[in-house]
Amino acid sequence: MSMPTLFEELQRVRTYEYTEEDVREFEILHDEIRALKKKRNAVIVAHNYYRPEILKIADFVGDSLELALMASEVKTADVILFAGVHFMAETAKIVNPSRTVLLPNLGAGCQLADSAPAEDVAALAAKLRKEYPDLAVVSYVNTTAAVKALSDIIVTSANAAKVVLTLPNKNILFVPDRNLANHVAAQVPEKNIIPWDGFCYVHQQITPEEISRIRRNDPELEILVHPECRPDVAALADAVLSTSGMVRWAKERPASRFLVVTECGLSDRLAMEVPDKQFVKGCKLCTFMKVTTLEDVRDALRDMKYEIEVPEEIRVPAERALRRMFEATK
Ligand code: 13P
Ligand code: SF4
Repeated sequence: MSMPTLFEELQRVRTYEYTEEDVREFEILHDEIRALKKKRNAVIVAHNYYRPEILKIADFVGDSLELALMASEVKTADVILFAGVHFMAETAKIVNPSRTVLLPNLGAGCQLADSAPAEDVAALAAKLRKEYPDLAVVSYVNTTAAVKALSDIIVTSANAAKVVLTLPNKNILFVPDRNLANHVAAQVPEKNIIPWDGFCYVHQQITPEEISRIRRNDPELEILVHPECRPDVAALADAVLSTSGMVRWAKERPASRFLVVTECGLSDRLAMEVPDKQFVKGCKLCTFMKVTTLEDVRDALRDMKYEIEVPEEIRVPAERALRRMFEATK
């Protein structure tokens, strides 16, 4: 069987409608990016939610945990171009400070990470420690470097309960996603999880009514839900998984129809990679994940922008918290 062309692959995507002209432009940009990658000795790592035409030129595509681990292992490349959001590029710089880390568009922030300013987290932790002297601060990777620096350990959607279980502390301030905090609390009832009152605006929009309606019309569907979704949405899931957990599940399970309840980029990636299965639309768009274009990626490598820096006094404690997570995840 012959390999599908880029145009054929992109026709399977539901979020965008690509014309032949669009795809011809992507191919020209891909060639330019390949040449610049060589010139800069760069690798491109991309998050699962990114635009499909960017995933197609990435050296590695994954979830937050995979990307952090991957970035920490980059040894021969001088430049890591991070096709993700700001906290992800910052994490790469924290764990691999001798590389140049580029974020192609500074508009790629994260509303969830921004909902927990470091001063407020520090103040709440100090207040709670009066009542719970053993309090540990556990931060989701979707946080700023300054929050990571004041955390005991970091978690991602792929390992949160497992990491929390390794802690000796009973009392845990879990920052910033309350839905992930509740998901963890249900799995580790022996811990007292105190959630920060944050949520992701993308996942929070998804309602149980919407999911139940889709399932009623299509009872064979297997439903995969991201843990940033509301608990009443997670309760309807066949599995609650990180984005790459969803990719593995959909590839490995015998089911042929899936509802992937998360940002739309995930269903698009699956539609391209698993053409013999169906991914029913029930997703929402993250404007931060979609702001970066293929031109931005080209310009970033051409002009070496935008370089992510983390001051050493923040980077060192933030790296400690991240490395503890890597250790706990082994
Ligand atoms: P994952 O780590 O599961 O890819 O999630 C990242 C994210 O930002 C979800 O909104
Ligand atoms: Fe942040 Fe939500 Fe977008 Fe993920 S989907 S990057 S948590 S705003």
